[in-house]
Amino acid sequence: MRVVSGMRPTGKLHLGHYIGVIKNWLNLQNKYECFFFVADWHALTTKFDEDINLKETSIELVKEWIACGINPEKSNIYIQSDIKEHAELYLILNMITPVSWLERNPTYKDAMTQDEYKKKNNAGFLTYPVLQTADIILYDANLVPIGEDQKPHLELAREIVRHFHYLYKKEIFIEPKELLTEVPRLPGLDGRKMSKSFNNAIYLDDSPEIIWEKVRKAKTDPARIKKTDPGHPEVCIVFEYHKAFSPKNEVEEIEEACKAGSIGCVECKKRCSANIDKILAPIREKKASLKNEDILDIINEGNKKAKSLASKKMKQVNEIIF
Ligand code: TRP
Ligand code: SF4
Repeated sequence: MRVVSGMRPTGKLHLGHYIGVIKNWLNLQNKYECFFFVADWHALTTKFDEDINLKETSIELVKEWIACGINPEKSNIYIQSDIKEHAELYLILNMITPVSWLERNPTYKDAMTQDEYKKKNNAGFLTYPVLQTADIILYDANLVPIGEDQKPHLELAREIVRHFHYLYKKEIFIEPKELLTEVPRLPGLDGRKMSKSFNNAIYLDDSPEIIWEKVRKAKTDPARIKKTDPGHPEVCIVFEYHKAFSPKNEVEEIEEACKAGSIGCVECKKRCSANIDKILAPIREKKASLKNEDILDIINEGNKKAKSLASKKMKQVNEIIF
């Protein structure tokens, strides 16, 4: 079974990415043949007008994957825009995909209610799922790990595959299945969605001091004024972080102590911060030890393998169409 998944290079990775995506990839690379790529063209669908250095952010992203334990001996790592076949297949698929299928995509409809996207309304954003389909079916992927929000994109990918097969009477693609991961969404430290623009995230390369500064200010149970006030861990953001990053017995102990009013929020936050740092310290160290040249070598290797599969598939496609 082959797995394909991509991530847009839109900035540093934070704990939400780690819990929601990377940990899942780490499991998958032990079970399947994995193709993990940097979706830099996808980043352009929304950020074409921003000054983001895509080359640098892409290398940085791969560096963080490797620091987290994505192993280039096991997984194939490459850059979307280095494999021009993604663009070639995207073009062909755009020819056969009805605009109405794209316009009913919930991600698109939702974006069009926001002024920022409505103003741009670029064709590339509408056809985002077509490029995503190309990313997947170019490599005969069976499984695609995604979050709930991406389900309609996978459905569309299958529809496009069936449509291609129907039009050209040749079955050359695999209908990909989604691999939904049941990860609870980690909220930002202020309780809102974790996001760079809200300044409420802990980044993988934050120092212990910065982690503590951030956790110290995190939102807790507002009903607790004095240390002896019985708390409600279920409404506390810090407790969410304990559940995600502290050992199970410690989580239980803290839940009891909070409810009993026998632990203060400051102590609780100190322990939370220390446990987060226990996980991030080795990632931070590994990242610091990786040189850009090493990352470029890894990408070159991955690109080669990706290119060989992608060009074979495009040859099949072109023989059918021309
Ligand atoms: N759309 C995905 C996201 O926003 C990124 C992505 C692009 C992707 N191409 C893909 C994911 C192919 C899986 C497979 O997270
Ligand atoms: Fe939250 Fe911990 Fe304070 Fe309880 S003791 S409210 S879990 S920070």
